[in-house]
Amino acid sequence: MTQSSSPENTQYGSLWYPYAQMQNLEINLEVVETNGVYLTMNDGRELIDSISSWWSVTHGYNHPELNQAMTNQINKFSHVMLGGLKNQMTQSFADKLVEITPEGLNHVFFSDSGSVAVEVAIKMSLQYFFNQGNKNKTRIVALQRAYHGDTTACMSVCDPAEGMHKMFHGITPEQLFLDAPTGGFNASDAEINADIQKAKSLFEEHGSSIAAMIVEPLLQGAGGFNIYSPEYLNQLKALCQAHNILLIFDEVATGFGRTGKLFASEHTNITPDIMILAKGLTAGYIGHAATLATTDIFEAFLSDDPAKAFMHGPTFMGNPTACAVGLKAIEIFKRDDYLSKISNIEQTLKDELLDFEHEEIEECRVLGATGAIEVKDAKSHHGIQEYAAERGVWLRPFERYIYTMPPYIITDDQLKAITDVMKGWFLRER
Ligand SMILES: Cc1ncc(COP(=O)(O)O)c(C=O)c1O
Repeated sequence: MTQSSSPENTQYGSLWYPYAQMQNLEINLEVVETNGVYLTMNDGRELIDSISSWWSVTHGYNHPELNQAMTNQINKFSHVMLGGLKNQMTQSFADKLVEITPEGLNHVFFSDSGSVAVEVAIKMSLQYFFNQGNKNKTRIVALQRAYHGDTTACMSVCDPAEGMHKMFHGITPEQLFLDAPTGGFNASDAEINADIQKAKSLFEEHGSSIAAMIVEPLLQGAGGFNIYSPEYLNQLKALCQAHNILLIFDEVATGFGRTGKLFASEHTNITPDIMILAKGLTAGYIGHAATLATTDIFEAFLSDDPAKAFMHGPTFMGNPTACAVGLKAIEIFKRDDYLSKISNIEQTLKDELLDFEHEEIEECRVLGATGAIEVKDAKSHHGIQEYAAERGVWLRPFERYIYTMPPYIITDDQLKAITDVMKGWFLRER
């Protein structure tokens, strides 16, 4: 083994970047400051962040009140463990989450990232049945095109054929998959029925071995911005109930306004058994996540038998600094009527993107504060990142998708600067 104190096999030395082939990675943008929707580069350029740092910075950067909320907490204590110690900040945040999420989700288990919160949800679902003496329900159903994170159990419920973790299919726990629902937000009864029939057949065949079904409600994000109908979820819940299967909503991406309501669940008339929150939970200030469960689930863990306890406890769960910024972010979201800002964003995205056509484009889709252009061939957006940066916008397309999920404080002109770049790319002289 070669020892080297200053690794020189890439220009980035010690730092290993995410989702990147390090051999030919080129990063030319260096952030030195942030403010509002802007990222300031070391050469002084200011770029509008069109994707809110992986969809998390809902309130914009360097928000004075959020900064202050964190600073206040840090000055008391930035962190204290939740094992065997209570603190008012973490308790208040849990209470607030129960208050604002769909009726019935009464218990909050904190963790440090979306992926870990998904792991928690899966483990909780399995143990819910184990604690009741049912050891047969060991599998999870997910949707094709799903993305639920990068850790092992998460990988097992990501799209097994097209997803970024397909290399691990067959090594991670083997789960069951359903075709992704079709027809968009306003799918017809016939389309919904066809999709639900597939769930029905799968549940009839395998129901006794299925503990839970996990979905990104209404908007499949990293799997390709597939938008689907709330009615599909209403009917799915009834089916799950009939087969004693828990329904998990992974609202890591959809939560905190991204689909036009505070939670995507609010477009439906059901409460999931488990709901997962991260990203916007702390307005993108610091990694944190929450897995919420119904009383029915929580009570399955109450017992005189210590072995029925939920044996999980990330070191930083319930971190008071994360809770402080999360609480303040919810207060601002309501006080400043972020839902109306999101509704304006949705209208502009619809006006600017939905009718846009080009031979290289498959489809444009919009839901809430999310707008995506699906191209026919991923090669057709090679170079768009530089093109956008030259025009003052930070874009990060992936696979066949050029998209925006901006901070909610974005102005109409700033948003149009993003959509102009997204469309201008196709209309450029070449
Ligand atoms: C729906 C969904 N679930 C889970 C995750 C994983 O969250 P994290 O990156 O915080 O681990 C993501 C991340 O993009 C996501 O979009």
